[in-house]
Amino acid sequence: MKDILTAPWLTELIRTCTNMYAHGWDERNGGNISLLLDEAEAAEYLDLNSVLRTIPTGFSAPELDGKHFLVTGTGKYFKNVQYDPAANLGLVRLTDGGRTAELLWGYSDGGKFTSEFPAHMMSHAVRLAVDPKNRVVMHCHPGNLLAMTYVHDLDEISFTRTLWQMCTECIVVFPDGVNVLPWMLCGTNEIGEATAEKMKTARLVVWAQHGIYGAGRDLDETFGLIETAEKAAEIYMKIAHLPRLNTIGDEQMHLLEAHFGVKAREGHLN
Ligand code: 13P
Ligand code: ZN
Repeated sequence: MKDILTAPWLTELIRTCTNMYAHGWDERNGGNISLLLDEAEAAEYLDLNSVLRTIPTGFSAPELDGKHFLVTGTGKYFKNVQYDPAANLGLVRLTDGGRTAELLWGYSDGGKFTSEFPAHMMSHAVRLAVDPKNRVVMHCHPGNLLAMTYVHDLDEISFTRTLWQMCTECIVVFPDGVNVLPWMLCGTNEIGEATAEKMKTARLVVWAQHGIYGAGRDLDETFGLIETAEKAAEIYMKIAHLPRLNTIGDEQMHLLEAHFGVKAREGHLN
């Protein structure tokens, strides 16, 4: 059995947590990540028959039965993940139709998965139906996107169009745009269900006055999605109070679509 601390998927997740903290997106215990693993990938490093403990999830997710996830722990600080991965992360397998998580590694101080586990697992189920290669769900609190939800109208088309207008390559990176949830109580099955519903049509879901969710095939892609949206929000927050003399119009957006071979989400451009 290989040493789990050398597993590329573990080291990459640790680096991602450190990087997200460095970006200021994950103050204190803010943010959480879940990474879907192949059973064979996990089996190289762990005896998958050895269950440390079982943890009820409080929801069902039959589509994810038997699947393995590496998940950040609740109350854990992203800045500390690199120093004690076994306490701050856990590897779980969902069983019993998703109602139970079997802990195979981690949460070594008696902890458990993020309080946003419902939003993560329900989003995985939805994104896997759209894209079988989806493996990552990521949540964090980037300052400019959060700020934007206080001053910009939360209509999804309008929010998406503003972000696309802020940097030329936004429409190329997230042609599916962003969906937006109004403020809701976090850490509940209700916000999980609402997030998953929004994940049917976009890989980015903004939680007004809270943060953002991203989904993607790997950690880099998902990080990059959030990074690009956050950069756009940063430009918006720099210019929102100034007269706008220039912008990226729909004509230019169509040129970008044609040049980069992407299709903007239906109904989002004229
Ligand atoms: P957890 O510490 O439970 O992951 O919660 C952090 C967070 O961002 C809640 O939305
Ligand atoms: Zn949060």
